[in-house]
Order: sequence, then structure tokens, then C-alpha cells
Amino acid sequence: MVRTFPEIAAEDGRTFQLLVGEAWRPAADGATMEALSPINDEFIGRVASATVEDANAVVQSAAQAWPAWNGRTFTERAELLHVVGALMRQHLDLLVDLLVVEIAKPRDEAIASVERTACLMDYFAEEGRRFYGEIIFGDSFPGYSRNKVCQVYRDPQGVILAISPFNYPLNLSGSKIAPALITGNSVVFKPATQGAIAALHMAELFRRAGLPPGVLNVVTGRSSVIGDALVAHPEVDMIAFTGSTEVGQHIAATAGMIPLMMELGGKDAAIVLADAELGLTAKEIVKGAFSFAGQRCTAVKRVLVVPEVADALVERLVSLSEAYRVGDPRDPSVKMGPVASAAAADLVQELIDDALARGAQLRCGNQRNGRYLEPTILDGVTEDMRVAWEEPFGPVLPIIRVGGVSEALAVANRSSYGLQSCVFTQDLDQAFWLGRQLDVGTVNINGADSRGPDHFPFVGRKDSGLETQGVHYSISAMTKTKAITFNLRPPVAGAGA
Ligand code: NAP
Ligand code: G3H
Repeated sequence: MVRTFPEIAAEDGRTFQLLVGEAWRPAADGATMEALSPINDEFIGRVASATVEDANAVVQSAAQAWPAWNGRTFTERAELLHVVGALMRQHLDLLVDLLVVEIAKPRDEAIASVERTACLMDYFAEEGRRFYGEIIFGDSFPGYSRNKVCQVYRDPQGVILAISPFNYPLNLSGSKIAPALITGNSVVFKPATQGAIAALHMAELFRRAGLPPGVLNVVTGRSSVIGDALVAHPEVDMIAFTGSTEVGQHIAATAGMIPLMMELGGKDAAIVLADAELGLTAKEIVKGAFSFAGQRCTAVKRVLVVPEVADALVERLVSLSEAYRVGDPRDPSVKMGPVASAAAADLVQELIDDALARGAQLRCGNQRNGRYLEPTILDGVTEDMRVAWEEPFGPVLPIIRVGGVSEALAVANRSSYGLQSCVFTQDLDQAFWLGRQLDVGTVNINGADSRGPDHFPFVGRKDSGLETQGVHYSISAMTKTKAITFNLRPPVAGAGA
């Protein structure tokens, strides 16, 4: 049994509650949902299954709390985030254990995720301290004088609804909560059901750090019950969401005219040119495709390779992938645990079966034991196969052999997604040209796709998202601009000047 914090659970120590205002409490009707480990279906605990009444209560609590929180200084808010960062480091082992059992994150990846989130707290605190407005003088626009002066302020949005996905219960929650808090917003936090227990523990650290009641509220429950009640609530002022494109589109359609920050799905292409350094390229692609069993929005989800190096690249990819150990992520020698659910494994299998039926060649993998899947490489994938376009969120890597650079670009850009791409070449002119032409938020030259480091901008185009995340960018997005203009009149001679 993993260790947990007693404050957030009911008397049995395993029933985790909602944070509404100052206290943890059960759902209005006492309903719960069971959390079982994807490693072995072991019982971890229960999380509250909130009602619409609970959803309204968390939003009201946040709405009441934000004006006083906004009245605190940036310094006070920054100091609190530093304390949260320190508490995360202090409780690293407990948080890591929760990530490992709840979402089957391999231990080293879980440690990195907690450390990265603690750093985020410090970084948001420091960037927030430096987040000033500005003063603009009118005479920089023709026809206006220097006596017209504009003071530009950045005000909090108000109540921010933060909805996070299962694959980063701490980091993709912290990356929403911290910028919201440093800029004077309050938060209603709805973690994914899978991974919720780790997320609730992080929320408790904010409470222990001294965050005033109501500034951070946490609600868990079935999205079919509370999703629309939260999203369409008139007192929610902004939504920061990470998850699938399908859910993101539903939220956007339901929310009405409020600011949205959306990080959605992807189908990132690795483009490999004839002069690529193949050792590095293969290592980066395999890491990019199979870390956390491919359950990353930025995972490499297709390879577009030119004929000159296609055979040699595939040989290297296969040999690296075959060395991947799949198994219980608590075993330090294991590189890849199970995927999150049987449904996720079924989708991966469907895509593999469809591609094989249409003539793709299996180069390795396609072995399944329930949710445990071996890393699979499919060669000769063509555009009529589903795996060429759909996001699997699992360990399958399609290889699409293209005729040359122009075809690689065309196939890459035909995707409905536009999150990231990586380009492997030693020719910087080609790299730069492709970098400019690819219709994605980030292009990585000679390295696998990745959101980090977290102060870089992270943004998806097309079906991959809206607005830009990243330390400075999130802070900016979670505030709104207020301008006050002064029309100064020089003193009139003899009028007491
Ligand atoms: P998901 O099924 O879309 O769920 C994401 C979050 O939305 C969860 O908290 C979920 O709650 C909640 N949700 C579902 N329906 C909702 C509704 N109607 N109203 C309000 N909230 C709702 O995604 P996931 O399975 O957790 O993550 C996998 C997907 O996320 C992949 O497509 C991946 O590419 C994408 N992703 C993108 C990024 C990025 O940065 N671009 C990062 C991570 C993941 P429940 O869990 O309770 O259903
Ligand atoms: O799953 C989506 C995350 O934003 C990916 O983050 O590139 O740091 O793994 P990462």
C-alpha cells in the first residue's frame, strides 16, 4: 500500500475527498469511484464522485476567494509558491510512489516529473515577480503628443478552471495552477480521474503552504456528470485544459466567449534526411516514441524518411526497440510499463491490425499481454492506413518512406494536428527551411520532440491547441490587459503654477 496524507482522506484513509474552501469533504451524495492500478488492478483507493451541487460549490468558493488573493502582493504570492516547491521536494518519495502505482509511470520518469514540477513553482514565482505592466507615450504614433500617456496593467482573469490529463497528474496541473495563482486568480482544479490521488496530494501541499481557503479548490468526478456544469458555469472566467482534441472541442463549444488555453492531441512527425547522423537520430526517435509507453502528446508518432537512409534507419530503430524491457514499472530495469487502460491498448491494436491488413510490414513488437504492449514498429506505412493519421497514445511507430524533402513536408503538414515536429539533418539550411515551413508550434532540430524546458513556448496549431503555455506565456495568458490613458495638460501660466 502506498503512503498517503491523512488530511485528504475520510476515516478509512483510502477515500479521497474534494477540497471546497478550507476543508476536504466527501461528495454531496457520498458517491465515490474506485482507483485501481494499471500495473496489476490492485486497489489504491477511492476518489469522490462529485455532483452538480459540488461543482457549483467549488466555483462559488473560488469566486469568493480571488479578490482578496489578488489583493496580496506578488512577493507574498511568490513566497507561497516557493514553499510549495520545497514541500514537493520534501514529499518527493510519496508523490513518486503515487505516480508509479496510479498511472504506471516508470520510477525514473516519475522522479523527473516531481522535480520538474517543484522547479515550475520556483520559476513561476520568480517570473511572476518580474511581470510588470508598461507605460506608453502617444507621440510614437503619428498625430499624437507625448502628453497622451497610457498605463498598461495586467489584471487576473478571475476564476480559472484547470482541467488536466492522466499522463502528467502533477506537472500538467502545476503548470496551470502556478501561473493562475501568481497572477492573483483563484482556481477550480479538476484532475483526470486516473492520477487524481497524486493530484489531490499536490493540492494538499498548497493548503499546507498557507494558501488562503477557497483560492484552490479541487473537484473529482465523472465528466459526464460535472463536466458541462463546470465548463459552462457563469462564474468561470477562463479554462486551461490539457487532454484530447475531442474533449477540447466539446469544451470550446460549451464554454462560450471566455479565454481558453488548450493543449490537445498530436501526430508529431520525425523527418529524417539523407545526411542525418543515424546513431543519434535512432536513439532520439526511439526515446521520443516509446518513453512512458508513447503516452505523451509530444511522442514521435510517425517517421518520414528519405530513401537514401530508410533501410539503415529502420535497422537501428528495430534493434534499439527490441532492447526495451516491458513490465512492472516498479522494477528499475523496466523501460516501459502498461498503457493506461484496456481501451487504450485496444486502440493501439486496432491501428496495428488495420495497417498489417493493408500491407504494412511488422518489424518488431505486436505482442500484447492485456495492457502491456511491446514497442511496435511498422514499416512501409502508406497514407490509406489509419496509423498514418490517428493518434494512438501507445507504443506504435509507423515508418512512412517518402521520395524526398518536399514529400516529407507535404505529408507532415497534411495532418489535422500541428503540435511539434523534429528534423534530423546536418544541413542547417535544410533544417531552417523545414523549420519555417512545418505547420506546427515547435520544430526540434536533431532532438526528439518535447514540451520542456518549461520556460520555452509550448503551443499547438490546428487541432493541437489554442494559446501558448510556458512560464512567461502562461502568466501572460492568465491575465487581461487594462489601459488607463492620461491626457496631460501643461500648467497654464498665472494659474498658480
Ligand atoms: P481526455 O480524455 O481528453 O481527458 C482530459 C481531461 O478532461 C480529464 O481530466 C478528463 O476527466 C476531462 N474531461 C473529459 N471529458 C470532459 C468534459 N466533458 N468536460 C470537462 N472535462 C472533461 O484526455 P486524457 O486521456 O487524459 O489524455 C490523453 C489525450 O490528451 C491525448 O489525446 C493527448 O495527446 C492529450 N494530451 C495533450 C497534451 C498536450 O500538452 N498537448 C498533454 C497531455 C495529453 P476524466 O479523466 O474524469 O474523464
Ligand atoms: O503529454 C503531453 C505533455 O505535454 C508532454 O510533455 O514533452 O515533457 O513529455 P513532455
